[in-house]
Amino acid sequence: MLLSLVVHTYSLRYWFPATIMLGTAPVYLLVWGVWRLLSTALPARVYHTLDDRLYCIYQSMVLFFFEHYTGVEVVIYGDIPKNKENVVYLSNHQSTVDWIIADMLAIRQSALGHVRYVLKDGLKWLPLYGWYFSQHGGMYVKRSAKFNETAMKKKLLAQTGAPMYLVIFPEGTRYNPELKNVMADSRAFAAKEGLAVLKHTLTPRMKASHIAIETMKGHLDAVYDITVAYEGTLDTSGQRRNAPSMPEFLCKECPRVHIHFDRVDIKEIPPEPAVFRKWLHGRFEIKDRLLTDFYESEDADKICRFPGEGKRSPLNLSKTLPSMMILGGLTLPLLLTENGRRLYLNTWVYGTLLGWLWVNVFP
Ligand SMILES: *[C@@H]1O[C@H](CO)[C@@H](O)[C@H](O)[C@H]1NC(C)=O
Ligand SMILES: *[C@@H]1O[C@H](CO)[C@@H](O)[C@H](O)[C@H]1NC(C)=O
Repeated sequence: MLLSLVVHTYSLRYWFPATIMLGTAPVYLLVWGVWRLLSTALPARVYHTLDDRLYCIYQSMVLFFFEHYTGVEVVIYGDIPKNKENVVYLSNHQSTVDWIIADMLAIRQSALGHVRYVLKDGLKWLPLYGWYFSQHGGMYVKRSAKFNETAMKKKLLAQTGAPMYLVIFPEGTRYNPELKNVMADSRAFAAKEGLAVLKHTLTPRMKASHIAIETMKGHLDAVYDITVAYEGTLDTSGQRRNAPSMPEFLCKECPRVHIHFDRVDIKEIPPEPAVFRKWLHGRFEIKDRLLTDFYESEDADKICRFPGEGKRSPLNLSKTLPSMMILGGLTLPLLLTENGRRLYLNTWVYGTLLGWLWVNVFP
């Protein structure tokens, strides 16, 4: 009895935020859909401006839960530019929370609305979100041999002129120390290609990053090279465990997240594919060293932190709470009337179906 109460209280910790984040999605999509229709006659730039504002509202609500509700402490190593820039964001990947980490940095630069993702093809099936992410300038890519360069270039060029904060996880899949065969394959691949074998990341794949950077070169200011580590992921014997998932993170399992920030000017990035690949691998060797220090340092003062000075970076509640009020305030009245509830339900059902059709017809 007591145990089941404890379990319930624990799962409530993420059911509550999950219900609100998912529950407000239909209203968001309706508002966006109306704007999409109204703006067809207007220049694309005008459409993007409001779309970015809307996206900023939704993601600020997401950050309300992931930062303020969880109380996680964000520690940043390195200086994030104060001004907005057009960038490609390259990060190590170990958890679905990594998407939110990009938001955490972007909101501190007032660039939250510009965040777009390069995503694994399978994610296009996410109800409502899968479709919307592609409408917001996100791209779905298939792995290795099935990767379609032409399609990605086309999608990138369609966004020329819109601000760019394109998030790419070059490892292509999440690092999970429990999946021994994935790690072994990745290391064997590096060894076969004559590249340094990495311990705390997978071997990066170059295609998506190379195409994004080369295609958009004239439009980009920099590459943000990001290394993320979640505190609380060492087991009792000091071995690295899997990073927290979104529900675990919302259950406050991660007290502190460490973000190492490095800015590389776009002019310093080699265009030639073979050289680019070495460059990218070199960046991952740096990440591997940072993460080795984080997880394996013998020195009690150095473990669970990156070298260099980490600064706590609190976020003002006034940046996130209003968005949650707005979206909640729009959703509640809809749920109070019979017609409203019908519209709400239909948006889920038909929005999902239309979205699936759309992302498969216009990949
Ligand atoms: C790649 O994408 C282009 C443009 O979207 C398309 O015309 C082409 O058929 C695709 N190629 C493959 C092999 O799917
Ligand atoms: C948070 O923002 C509000 C409104 O912009 C401001 O009045 C307040 O001083 C800020 N609080 C902190 C702790 O910076």
